[in-house]
Amino acid sequence: MERWNYVIRNAKLTGARSVDIAIKDDRIADIADNIAETGIEEIDAHGQLVTVPLVDAHIHLDATLTVPERTTNHSGTLLEGIQRWSEIKPDLTVEDVKTRAREAILWEVAHGTLQIRSHVDICDEKLTALHALRELKDEMAELVDLQLVAFPQEGVLCYPHGQELMETALHEGADIVGGIPHYEWTREDGIRELEYVFELAHREGRMIDVHCDETDDPESRFVETMARLTKVYEWEGRVSASHTTAMHSYNPAYGFKLRRILRQSDMAIIANPLTNVVLQGRFDDFPKRRGMAPIKELDAYGIPVALGFDCIMDPWYPLGTGNLLQAAWMALHLGHMTGAQEMERVFRMATVNGQSVFYPGQPNDLVAGRPADLVIWDAPSAIEALRLLPVAQTVMRHGHIVAQAEPSRHQVYYQGQNLTVNFRPRTAR
Ligand code: FE2
Repeated sequence: MERWNYVIRNAKLTGARSVDIAIKDDRIADIADNIAETGIEEIDAHGQLVTVPLVDAHIHLDATLTVPERTTNHSGTLLEGIQRWSEIKPDLTVEDVKTRAREAILWEVAHGTLQIRSHVDICDEKLTALHALRELKDEMAELVDLQLVAFPQEGVLCYPHGQELMETALHEGADIVGGIPHYEWTREDGIRELEYVFELAHREGRMIDVHCDETDDPESRFVETMARLTKVYEWEGRVSASHTTAMHSYNPAYGFKLRRILRQSDMAIIANPLTNVVLQGRFDDFPKRRGMAPIKELDAYGIPVALGFDCIMDPWYPLGTGNLLQAAWMALHLGHMTGAQEMERVFRMATVNGQSVFYPGQPNDLVAGRPADLVIWDAPSAIEALRLLPVAQTVMRHGHIVAQAEPSRHQVYYQGQNLTVNFRPRTAR
């Protein structure tokens, strides 16, 4: 009889089913109500939730951990963030970028994230950040899957040698073609940039992930061009639009039209609620807009939505520890997704939807045959995970435990008693 490396017992799946999970080498070998064979190691999950890892579908690891020491964004706007970052860029070194990004990756893994898509600013003649993150991708491969997006932070057409830098970046380690059409000087140039992005991605056989319509301007409508080009190039399932905050300001009739063509082009939307609720609305008086893509409406229409942390202590967002559950928590609030099924949908955005964006066409949830990448949470359900923001008790990558954490416990001293409080109601959901 085959002996499993691990058997995780009494594991709660998101559908509330309680199962055992057998792991052989780097794969999930079996998931069943009761697995008779013992593992070389046995783990009792004690009825806690077990899921695929969190996916941080959008972050900027090159800029991470640069505040407050090196710069501060006084206006809090996206545009000042880009200006402050452009002042830091000339001083970047490979070792500096690697040191900061390595730290951020360790934080993300500790929180249960094992797939990270990082945009890398290629508006730099030396491509320092790209070379650094390319090295780090290999060095940290045992811990995390890293996808690198060639991201033209200061534009393609409006930046000197923008096209050459994009192409060089793809040949020197970037995996995915990025873009930023709303940053070009004119709408026409924004469309030309997108036409270039799709032509390049098609020629090189790459996925696409464009910063698109990250503005409060309801006239910014480049996502529709992405949908059209996705159909023209037959690139369905390989294209993501990130941020897309202008959607928040579109009129309902146009929003409906856009959702329809997004679904037809099989594009994904990647929302970054923590950063965008801070950056957007900065030009508003009152009321101030929330500035997040309308994830509830997109999800209800069948459009894949994933989530990103976007920024950890950088010129655009001064806080953060890379805990994607915080991004999901914020998304739930900003998106009015407080119904029970809606909260479970938000948890899926942070986990299985991200897996689909990261590995198109592959199984996105815990099934036999999938790599043994999983998290045992200190919470019994997806809803409780979003309420408690628990620690990732055990994080497993390719069949090896790569991170562990102790559940937080609190003592309250009351009437001579020492009471343990763990924020769980007597009848846990
Ligand atoms: Fe971003």
